[in-house]
Amino acid sequence: MSEEIKEQIQKLKKERDAVILAHYYMDGAVQEIADYVGDSYYLAELATKVPESTIIFCGVSFMGESAKILNPKKRVVMANGHADCPMAHMANVERIRQVRTEYPDVSVVCYVNSTAEIKAESDVCVTSSNALRIVKNLPSQDIFFIPDENLGRYVAKLIPEKHFIFNDGFCHVHKSIHKDELIKAKEVHPEALVLTHPECSEDVLKLSDFIGSTSQIIDYATQSDKKEFLICTEMGVFYELQLKNKKKRFYSVGHRQFCPNMKMVRLKDVKDALETLWPEVVLEESLRAKAAKPLERMLELATPVSP
Ligand code: 13P
Ligand code: SF4
Repeated sequence: MSEEIKEQIQKLKKERDAVILAHYYMDGAVQEIADYVGDSYYLAELATKVPESTIIFCGVSFMGESAKILNPKKRVVMANGHADCPMAHMANVERIRQVRTEYPDVSVVCYVNSTAEIKAESDVCVTSSNALRIVKNLPSQDIFFIPDENLGRYVAKLIPEKHFIFNDGFCHVHKSIHKDELIKAKEVHPEALVLTHPECSEDVLKLSDFIGSTSQIIDYATQSDKKEFLICTEMGVFYELQLKNKKKRFYSVGHRQFCPNMKMVRLKDVKDALETLWPEVVLEESLRAKAAKPLERMLELATPVSP
């Protein structure tokens, strides 16, 4: 059955002049049929370069939205239109405006895990792979970091010369990775290095050997001489980690490293999206143009990283 779906996907892709982009948190079966798999920065940047007229996005809605914002002439279709990231809604336009009046010099730094409406009110977007570099080089002294508090606090600690204002957004998947479970897992696997996504809480970051985006975690493990790793991010990364590192061992911490939204996307959804070209990402033009500015600024300020 899945072989049949895979064949249909290949055929439809040609007929539709479509390319399939997938995030590392997708199911292995979806990553396998994708043309490109990567972290959120790589996928946003890549969307501006692919020649196909249609992008089928296997990820959550803010990722498809970013692709559309940056490529208004392309058709962007979500593989599953219900897959959304709760954190993307955890910032508030009123609060942004209030902070701007309190701190006239502020730069509003918006993690890409955010809606187009929130991006449209921001000065620059960042992802977990480039937040440090971008914030460091901003001229403003005051930084309002939205929506993720953990990523904001991680960046702030490494840039003590700037003043940060935080927002109380979070990722429930990364927040559910507990320090106590990590300590137990380290006892069971004493040789393992701990590789962690910066959306995790500070007490987990403190116990980590490396902190980075999904791609950076995969690259780090692949280049390391060590053989065992404890992975503090969503389980989807295990697919690429194991593909690239047949002789290394990867362990999770606890049982909650599972993003229910990312996992909504099934092979059949990809086939249906190619067949129906629905649900297409549609944005009102003035909103799209406003949201494009901070995303384009991110592309200018960030050095591209490989997937
Ligand atoms: P990356 O930018 O590392 O791909 O992370 C995206 C994400 O949603 C993390 O939860
Ligand atoms: Fe959003 Fe967290 Fe899922 Fe990433 S893992 S898409 S931040 S809910």
